[in-house]
This record gives sequence, structure tokens and C-alpha cells, in this order.
Amino acid sequence: MKKYILILAAGKGTRMKSSLPKVLHEAVYHPILSYVIAAAKGVGADDICTVVGHGAEEVKAAFAGETSFILQREQKGTGHAVREGLAAFADHREGMVLVLCGDTPLLRAETLKELCARHEQSEAAVTVMTASLSDPFGYGRVIRGADGDPLRIVEQRDASEEEKAVTEINSGVYCFDLGFLRDAVSKLQNDNDQGELYLTDTIAIARAEGRRAAAYRVADFEEVSGINDRVQLAAAGKVIRRRKAEALMRAGVTLIDPDSTIIDPLAEIGADTVIEPFTVIKGRTVIGADCHIGPNAELTDTVLGDGVRFWRSAAAEASVGDGCNIGPFAYLRPKTELKNGVKVGDFVEVKNSVIGEGTKLPHLTYIGDSDIGAGCNIACGTITCNYDGFDKTRSKIGDRVFVGCNVNLVSPVHIEDDVYIAAGSTITESVPGGSLAIARERQINKEGWAEKFRALHKK
Ligand code: UD1
Ligand code: CA
Repeated sequence: MKKYILILAAGKGTRMKSSLPKVLHEAVYHPILSYVIAAAKGVGADDICTVVGHGAEEVKAAFAGETSFILQREQKGTGHAVREGLAAFADHREGMVLVLCGDTPLLRAETLKELCARHEQSEAAVTVMTASLSDPFGYGRVIRGADGDPLRIVEQRDASEEEKAVTEINSGVYCFDLGFLRDAVSKLQNDNDQGELYLTDTIAIARAEGRRAAAYRVADFEEVSGINDRVQLAAAGKVIRRRKAEALMRAGVTLIDPDSTIIDPLAEIGADTVIEPFTVIKGRTVIGADCHIGPNAELTDTVLGDGVRFWRSAAAEASVGDGCNIGPFAYLRPKTELKNGVKVGDFVEVKNSVIGEGTKLPHLTYIGDSDIGAGCNIACGTITCNYDGFDKTRSKIGDRVFVGCNVNLVSPVHIEDDVYIAAGSTITESVPGGSLAIARERQINKEGWAEKFRALHKK
């Protein structure tokens, strides 16, 4: 049977108290809607459409190409959202429609597939996904009939005391027969506390028409928790982190303390890598096998090879070869490429530069817009002066170059292979291969000077 998915994401999210549309709020570095779209894609649908309204342009811009969109101009409730959204499937005759909310990021594709499978088997007009919560406050309650199937769903604010005592809640996820849904949403009334068209009323409509309304109660209530405020947003983030941590640990990664480690769901980490506490791994970061990361590491969209040591340091959009040793307190900025076996030590910043195999930058150095060869030693306090206030220029350093301490390399310069640069030099011109460059004042020793100086100041 054809499967169409409608994601409701037009609501304002008043309880977020934010100028940002609710579904764009992030949990573990991604907007919550992205998790819903990923789960929807995992179901293998024939068409996915997202109903947008509040902040529509922002939401569309953030998810362009990921789903189609329908605009719900005025937000008159979940039933109204579906009524408008169904226009996206106007050409489709039959099939099932899976309705998801953009604010339930913990849903798994497997669970949605199971819902669809059960719906297909039961031949119900609608199957609603439910869960039993110890604290059902705020959710719609599922009122079941004598036959065990749902009779209707009543919202918290419309519920009687007796109904409020029901702990089985509506997850906001449903599977509908397309034909039934089209007809049912045209019949919705706004006779409720909010004066809205409630999608939940389709359950009672099915029953009134003598059709079956089924329920699929999931055991993992966590999966259906919706996000309405920032407390729930943080709680969902915790679940997403825990899921990622568990998947990594099962795949052979050691997390010393998963609770103090944040790893993007999109990150990849190889086996036998150890992640120490207070490490933050963002974006599509890829870490190889046998690495030792942290404590206090921050990696964003960075690629690390195998056997890398990276501690108390930050990297963004950098690439680090096998066996490199980074930190503590190093900063690798975008377009940094370290070949294998490079050492970048304390208080070293590298930007838009390629550092050759086995080269060492042990301490207190800034390398920007440079290409450095293999086997070099760039001693303490070396600085590439790559910016004149208007333009950035590139420098090139060959292989096996020894740059002494406290050297300024005023770009653009070309230091050829096997050059030695004397400590304290300010290099403004290129240096031919195999030479020693000294660019500093020659030292003068004035013997007996101290005694004369002190005598001058004596009274
Ligand atoms: C809804 C359900 C409730 C269920 C809960 C699960 C109704 C009436 N209630 O309540 O039974 O327990 O979800 O989380 O359906 N939306 C639109 N357009 C609108 C209104 C809402 O697109 O006009 C979207 C929202 O962006 C959101 C979703 O629909 O993604 C749910 O809306 P929300 O206002 O959060 O409904 P709840 O009060 O949580
Ligand atoms: Ca909600």
C-alpha cells in the first residue's frame, strides 16, 4: 500500500517563549524537526509533506529539498493543519497517511513501520499510537470502549476529572486510511476549549461511522514525548545523546563518562577509540580507530585518522592524519590539513594551512595560510605574519626545515628545503635551500657597563 507522510509543524510553540519557530529549536545540534524528517524517511514513504505556518519561511529555508511544504496560513488546530496538508496528496487516490508532529523528535523509524504494519493488518480507518505515562499531564487522553478500542480522545483542558485520571495518552502519531481522513477532516467542529479543529476528533468520527479505530500502545513512552517547552527540549537532547552513546559503545568505542560527553548523532567514531569526559563532538565529525580524545576536546566537522591523540583542544573543519598528537590547548581552524604524525602542541593555532608528515609545532605558534613540508621543526613562538590589514598572503616552507624560536615569517615568503632559520629572526625574503638565514641585529657585549651605570645613579 502507498504510504504518505504528513508532518505537522505550523504551530507557534508558545510555551518555548521564543522568536524562533519551535521546530527549529535544536536538540544535540540539530533542529528537532530534522529528527522527525529522518524517522519519516526511514519509513520509506512515497511522499513526505510538512505543514508549515508560524515562521514558515525560516522552516522552509532550513529544510529545503528534504520534504515538500504546505502552508497553513492560520493555525486553527491539528485537524485544520491536516485538512490543509492533504492538498499535497490531492492526486493520490488511495493509501495510508502517517501523521507525525514536528515536535516529537524521539520517534524511531522502526516504531513507525510497526504502526503502519498493524494499521494495514487491522483494516482500521485510523490507528493511533499511544503510551501509558505515570504523569500524563498535558496530553490528550485515550478513552477506550468496552470492545477495547479507542472511542475518542479528549484533551487535557477539555477532560473531566475521571478522564484526567486515564494514563494512556495520545502520542500525536496516527496512521489513517487516506479516503477516511479526507472525509473526516471535512467534518471536524471547533466545539472545544480552544475553539480549534482537533485531529483527535477523527477517532470519534470513525466510531460514529461504524468504522474501526485502533490503538497501538508502545512500551517505550520516551519515544513519543513531545516538546512543548525548553525543559522538555533538554530532556529530549539527553535521550538523543544517550542513544548515540549506546550505539557507539556497542560498536566498540569507550566512553569514560557518557553523561558528560556530547556526540552529534551524525558523528562517526572507530573502534577502540577512547573518549574522555567533557568532550563535545559536533556535526559530521569522523574519528578513526584507536584514538584518544579529551578530556575537554571540541571537534566540529573535523576528520581524524587512526591513532590520534587529541586533548584539551578545539578543531573546526580540519583534517588530521593518522598518529597525530594534538594539544593541550591547540586550535585547529578551518582548512587545516595535518598529514600523518604531526605534532601540534600547547597554544598553537593553525588556519588554512597544510602541515607535512611528521612536522612538529610544539608550542606557542601561529601558522596561517601556509604550506609546510615534512619533517620540519617549527620551534616555540613562530608566527606567520599573513595579514597586512587588507590582504592575506600565503607562505611556503619546504621539507626538513628548522625554524628557531621566536621567528616571524612575513608572508609571502618561500623557505626552501633543508633551511635553518636562526632564533629571533624576522624573515621578509625567501631563503634558498640548504642555507642558514639570520635576520636579527648582531649582539654587542659592553663589558663593565653595569658598574658605570650604577655609579651614575649613586648619590
Ligand atoms: C496534540 C494532541 C494531543 C497529543 C499531543 C501529543 C490535538 C488536538 N492534540 O496536543 O492529543 O497528546 O499532541 O504531543 O491534536 N500544529 C499545526 N497547526 C496547528 C496546530 C498545531 O501544524 O494549527 C502542529 C504543531 O506545530 C505541533 C503539532 O501540530 O507540531 C501538535 O500541536 P500542539 O499544539 O503541540 O498539540 P498538543 O497540545 O501538544
Ligand atoms: Ca505538542
